[in-house]
Amino acid sequence: MIWPTDRFHRPPSPSSGSATEALANSAHRLSSAAHVMVSSGSKSQSSPAADPGSPLPGSLGPRRSGASPLRWAMEFNPEMLQVQDRYKLLIGSITPRPIALVSTVSPEGQINLAPFSFFTGVGSDPMTVLFCPANNEHGQDKDTLRNCRKPPAGGTGEFVINLACEGYIRKVAAAAEPLAYGENEFDFVGLNMAPSTAVEPPRVAESPVCFECRTIKVLSTGDKAFGGNIVLGKVLHVFVQDDLIDDKRRIDQEKLGTIGRMGGYRYCRTSDQFEITPGKAALEGE
Ligand SMILES: Cc1cc2nc3c(=O)[nH]c(=O)nc-3n(C[C@H](O)[C@H](O)[C@H](O)COP(=O)(O)O)c2cc1C
Repeated sequence: MIWPTDRFHRPPSPSSGSATEALANSAHRLSSAAHVMVSSGSKSQSSPAADPGSPLPGSLGPRRSGASPLRWAMEFNPEMLQVQDRYKLLIGSITPRPIALVSTVSPEGQINLAPFSFFTGVGSDPMTVLFCPANNEHGQDKDTLRNCRKPPAGGTGEFVINLACEGYIRKVAAAAEPLAYGENEFDFVGLNMAPSTAVEPPRVAESPVCFECRTIKVLSTGDKAFGGNIVLGKVLHVFVQDDLIDDKRRIDQEKLGTIGRMGGYRYCRTSDQFEITPGKAALEGE
């Protein structure tokens, strides 16, 4: 995805542009402070917090909250932020995000594949999932969304969510290449297609878990560039690689190898895991 250039948030440094640009940047940063004091929870800390540094644009003005000054925080009104800064706050803090590698097919039968990390399960009765393809920089549907729309809205109303795993994570990232509508990202990245059972789009043969879905609804949260869309799907068929699931339908968490998306271009593995019993029992292990 190509975002508008972030001119103001680069720290002024000799390597990040001209001296004039650096000065303009710091002046802009200082013009709208957003620092807030918050409690860190540590009662022993009594000295004032360190200088919070330059404030960011689009913030609410300097404020202090909490009984004792412990550390600085920033608060933002999203309406005052540039779109790319709202995006950075979302993807830099809602982490880690699972990645849905979504395969679709156009009404003309052209196959498409793209990754989406704004993705989660919704409910179990019926079994439902959602993912969120944003509008492109022209305010138009990405190819996946176009294909996922129901037939009266120009799509085929079907999609497959293929889990993204460590073994082919570079191919997952490569599938984000914005190819022309109708060009097949399976071929472009070198992933293999396997026939699905309940829907037309193929599943990713390398993926150990695939959810074959029919679109229930597409909800738009904004029709401008980078506005959001929620694609809600009913799961019609689930594929799970045999050696990953036991007879109680438990998926082997060690073997699954799913990858999480973090902020920027960062990812994380799921190989470092631990267990906590929910509720009151969780506190007993402290
Ligand atoms: C790991 C990863 C996760 C992504 N998640 C999203 C997302 O949640 N929403 C979105 O609109 N774009 C996301 N993108 C960007 C899309 O994959 C990209 O815009 C792609 O070209 C869309 O393809 P399409 O036009 O074939 O649908 C992501 C990219 C990567 C590499």
